[in-house]
Amino acid sequence: MKDMTAVILAAGKGTRMKSDTPKVLHELLGKPMLRYVIDAVKASGISRIIVVIGHGSGAVRDILKTEGVTAVEQKRLLGSGDAVMTAKKALGPSSGDILVICGDTPLIRKETVRSIIEKHKSSGASATILTAILKDPTGYGRIVRGSEGRIAKIVEDQEASLYEEVIEEINVGTYCFKSTDLFAALARVSDDNRKKEYFLTDVIGVLSRNDKTIESVTAEDKNEIIGINSRKDLAYATQAMKTRVMDGIMAGGVTVQDPLSTVIYPDVSIGRDTVIYSNTVIQSDVTIGSSCKIGPFTRIRPGVIIGDRVEVGNFVELVKTRIGDDTKVKHHTYLGNTTVGKKVNIGAGTITANFDGKNKNETVIEDGAFIGVGAMLVAPVKVGKEAVVGAGCVVLKGHDVPRKATAVGVPSRILKKK
Ligand code: UD1
Ligand code: CA
Repeated sequence: MKDMTAVILAAGKGTRMKSDTPKVLHELLGKPMLRYVIDAVKASGISRIIVVIGHGSGAVRDILKTEGVTAVEQKRLLGSGDAVMTAKKALGPSSGDILVICGDTPLIRKETVRSIIEKHKSSGASATILTAILKDPTGYGRIVRGSEGRIAKIVEDQEASLYEEVIEEINVGTYCFKSTDLFAALARVSDDNRKKEYFLTDVIGVLSRNDKTIESVTAEDKNEIIGINSRKDLAYATQAMKTRVMDGIMAGGVTVQDPLSTVIYPDVSIGRDTVIYSNTVIQSDVTIGSSCKIGPFTRIRPGVIIGDRVEVGNFVELVKTRIGDDTKVKHHTYLGNTTVGKKVNIGAGTITANFDGKNKNETVIEDGAFIGVGAMLVAPVKVGKEAVVGAGCVVLKGHDVPRKATAVGVPSRILKKK
């Protein structure tokens, strides 16, 4: 989408989080909330993205480096209206449309961003607001409608009168504007309110008084609009995100025995007929094949690729590891930076010592190998095809076990060829 620029507001301090970390860097399932918003905006088809940063700008800038977005810094945090003003220079003289979205609403979906853009384009409105109907609208700006249901203004929670407080339609914080109308109206917004801030939301009243058309789209999914201001909001939003990810996994033909005790991060792919047993954690950047049995009590960390019909059991931790088809890793094992072949049996309590204090080193266990219980493989090391490592054996680095050989003892010695 060429004629639309997104402005993501992410400068706020997040006072209510009571944190040294900038609010938008707080994570849901291992991913900072700002990244979710950027991903949704990109997926909606917008490629020109400006992020307004301010509080903790150094740390926020760091995560933006790889995102292909423009960062502009709001020096003094004078409110969301001022934040949009800060983006004006970076926008240039473009007179196109602008999508403004808050960096603290990570559950917003690309479909919803698309629907507000579509409504904005088709109606030709000056502003199109994403709203939601909440039984408890506390904390959100309320949508005040006048005669014939036309939007008259947005009133912030702290500024709302008794009559306005009971309004259940709220401002999600995502809007489309015609940029000329937006900046003309912004110039007329004051900081005459309790927070002494320039509210972006006051633009709506200005536009309405000037008889500009204001449209709205109402979000169906109540969770999608959650704005995170506190740790409690963060916990609630994390649960909602967890459910969303889990629903997607199950829709793909995976059985999750106990969704409540299982945590699956975004960017995980799991094949059909795999069963995930209780108390399992699967982090991002993990691929699991079909017909596997994972858990209970398994932790799979990033960079893991598991084939088909693999069994990974209780108290097993995997990181940066590949496991071939039909392999079993069933009890009390740690595999890091390891490549395991097909039809391998990893005995209970096997440990790969992948870290030597300085570097992470690789372990290779080839097809059909059998690793006895309590074995320790000090990387870099290789166990050849169909080799056997005896129970309690310590294979020191560089002491590779040849194909079909049997290694026993501490440190290991080769017994015989099969
Ligand atoms: C804002 C909206 C409110 C809406 C709610 C939805 C305003 C005035 N109010 O309220 O109508 O219901 O979001 O979640 O916009 N920010 C800056 N610079 C600043 C101040 C804020 O970039 O100087 C950013 C924040 O990082 C945040 C966004 O603007 O992403 C909104 O600010 P926040 O303080 O969270 O506003 P709310 O009170 O939640
Ligand atoms: Ca907020």
